[in-house]
Amino acid sequence: MIPSATELLAWYDRHRRVLPWRAGPGEARDPYRVWLSEVMLQQTTVAAVAPRYARFLARFPTIEALAAADWAEVAEEWAGLGYYARARNLHACARAVAAAGRFPNDREGLAALPGIGPYTASAVAAIAFDEAVVPVDGNVERVTARLRAVEDPLPGAKPRLTAIAARFMEDPAARARPGDFAQALFDLGATICTPRSPACGLCPWRDACDARRAGIAETLPRKAPR
Ligand code: ADE
Repeated sequence: MIPSATELLAWYDRHRRVLPWRAGPGEARDPYRVWLSEVMLQQTTVAAVAPRYARFLARFPTIEALAAADWAEVAEEWAGLGYYARARNLHACARAVAAAGRFPNDREGLAALPGIGPYTASAVAAIAFDEAVVPVDGNVERVTARLRAVEDPLPGAKPRLTAIAARFMEDPAARARPGDFAQALFDLGATICTPRSPACGLCPWRDACDARRAGIAETLPRKAPR
């Protein structure tokens, strides 16, 4: 059974988390803000990012302001968030964008920026520009592994999970709202399809979920021993 994008989006419209980097329905999405939030969220939790995101934007309200700042100022503002390579890349990207005079507006252009990987390029393309792509983070890996009961362990299963996620965009309802669709998957993974004790009874995709039917949802995704 194919999961319904219409049902996932209807669930999101009712239950979406209000987060500081999310534009309200119909509000413009600033690619700089979306990009900053995605970089901060890579190794830091939603709860820890929220206050730091607001503070960072108060200090560097635009990508031009960030590009014009010295590295020392950026490092100071990043203090405590860890993984300083992220801040280095952020600063280098801001300078590249300011020099080019425009923010790339598709996944390919975003991926060509220094330090932007496939996940960040896809997330910004979907959320800021409504490009029909599905960014695959840990939440989306978990949702897709369970949906199709993929028992191969990560990281080897990643290409297969990415291919499953990409097919979500075959549904016209997903193509109509790629940014909301991506964020609906993040919220589903964070609040329903959780690593432990998933709330399958509340899931908008419960009837389509192969792992739920097999009774193995909580055991997925598997991880290769390291
Ligand atoms: N995790 C990564 N990106 C996110 C987003 N835009 N909203 C919520 N959680 C996220």
